Amino acid sequence: MVTNMPQSDRMSFSEAERRGVYRAIYERRDIRAQFLSTPIPDHVLGRLLDAAHHAPSVGFMQPWDFIVIRSNAVREAVHNCFMEANRQAAAIYTGERRALYESLKLEGIREAPVNLCITCDRSRAKGAGVGRQTDPDTVLYSTVCAIQNLWLAARAESLGVGWVSILDLDRLRGLLGIPAELVPIAYLCVGYVSEFPANPELESVGWESRESLMRLIHFDRWDRRDEQRAADLFEPQPANGAQK
Ligand SMILES: Cc1cc2nc3c(=O)[nH]c(=O)nc-3n(C[C@H](O)[C@H](O)[C@H](O)COP(=O)(O)O)c2cc1C
Repeated sequence: MVTNMPQSDRMSFSEAERRGVYRAIYERRDIRAQFLSTPIPDHVLGRLLDAAHHAPSVGFMQPWDFIVIRSNAVREAVHNCFMEANRQAAAIYTGERRALYESLKLEGIREAPVNLCITCDRSRAKGAGVGRQTDPDTVLYSTVCAIQNLWLAARAESLGVGWVSILDLDRLRGLLGIPAELVPIAYLCVGYVSEFPANPELESVGWESRESLMRLIHFDRWDRRDEQRAADLFEPQPANGAQK
């Protein structure tokens, strides 16, 4: 999407635009159980991919590719891949945790009308190596930035996204024909939803809670954590629901 606004208007967001950005951040959810079969118009999918493509990347390397998956046969095969990996994942839990794990719905591969696999090409020449010599993993981080852009843009389009990581990556490579040297970073389920839950599902079912942000803020050095000083950052009122 190209913006042709004059420079003066491009300096700041209007109040409504600012709120819109925060709304997308706070109301984004990982969606698994709420997908509708309603098709996603091509131009909307295009906007999501373009939002991803405008993410920051180390050295402007743009290491990502996007596989758009609509085929029922491919989604069924990926679902089988998930089922096998999930059986193995469940095995590390026992007792009540195991029962809770097995009650979780951790993918919407067949229900979501579109699945996306986002890959990372660690050896892409673009960017000529700027910024990644001290930390080659910055290439991976760049791809994750693209995924987050897509996830937030999807929320603004009323589309849900669910990230499925419970997959054997080599098997996924084989199913999607991804060359061995590329890293499949994310497998995403995308679609319109019956609702966006107010809270993470893992929180609602009692699997995990949100950490206190105050406990995570340090001042100048790692050993200078000060919850009171951190709390002062959020007075008088946190922006649109920031969690303490
Ligand atoms: C890298 C990554 C991998 C994830 N893998 C899965 C997954 O395999 N299955 C799943 O149900 N959710 C997965 N999630 C979603 C998280 O469980 C979810 O983001 C978290 O519980 C917070 O909920 P929220 O995204 O709705 O705020 C993944 C998220 C990330 C960032």
